[in-house]
Amino acid sequence: MTNAKTPADLTITPRDLRFGRGATYRRWWLNDDPVATAFYNALSVTFPKGEGFFIDSVRKFRDGAPPRLEREIAAFTKQEVMHTREHVAFNRHVVEQGYDISTLEARVDREIALTRDRPAIASLAATMCLEHFTAIIAHQLVANPRHLAGGDAEAAALWRWHAIEEIEHKGVAYDTWLHATRDWSRLLRWKVKAIVMVMSTIKFFRGRTEGMLELLRQDGLTGAGVKWRLFKYAFGRPGMARKVLGAWLAFFLPGFHPWNHDDRKFIGLVESEFEAARLAA
Ligand SMILES: [Fe+2]
Ligand SMILES: [Fe+2]
Repeated sequence: MTNAKTPADLTITPRDLRFGRGATYRRWWLNDDPVATAFYNALSVTFPKGEGFFIDSVRKFRDGAPPRLEREIAAFTKQEVMHTREHVAFNRHVVEQGYDISTLEARVDREIALTRDRPAIASLAATMCLEHFTAIIAHQLVANPRHLAGGDAEAAALWRWHAIEEIEHKGVAYDTWLHATRDWSRLLRWKVKAIVMVMSTIKFFRGRTEGMLELLRQDGLTGAGVKWRLFKYAFGRPGMARKVLGAWLAFFLPGFHPWNHDDRKFIGLVESEFEAARLAA
């Protein structure tokens, strides 16, 4: 069984929702805080192309996968396609607020271009690592309301919707990786995933920090003071980087699987909020 650890009763349900159409977000839509806003804006800019890369990487291994995994890959693809659609819309709000996101987009293009000459398994390994990254950030976003507190309602709802679907499909890239490397030794699997995770993390930090600094520069905020604010935001309060550290480290433990930590209760929590909002509308 390649996906024995993914809960047997888990179904991946693409939720076709739209956010923020016809709305205007504040330039600093998250709590009037330029740093917090820059974090989510910089991350969102990476999603359309980044998620396209995740889809391509996983789908290359769909043929011959066990039927359940094949179905999960199809549902994963649908979810990521909709995330892309909504982040394209979100990024339009960012541009509407006067930000030039072209250098951030060019960086993503360059990063993806680097993977073209590499074997498909390398892209799958990178996707599996970045999906873990996404899942632990998603968990934090929903588990700790502080992260999105004070955000424009539709923008915050978009991030919460994206987060629960990331939690829901967090095992798919990992199970695809387990299936694709089923003939590898445990040691080789571990070595490759550990190296790729460390490299992906460094690239993620470097890329998003540069992206945030560029957006903040466009806000007229530069210099050491801004870098310090960024550091405090990541490692102090609300401290996303600090809060996900334990879950990040768990990836390196023997027997790791994204579903060793069953956090499905957060999916239900956000769904019931969406349902309540729908009924109230
Ligand atoms: Fe996504
Ligand atoms: Fe994802």
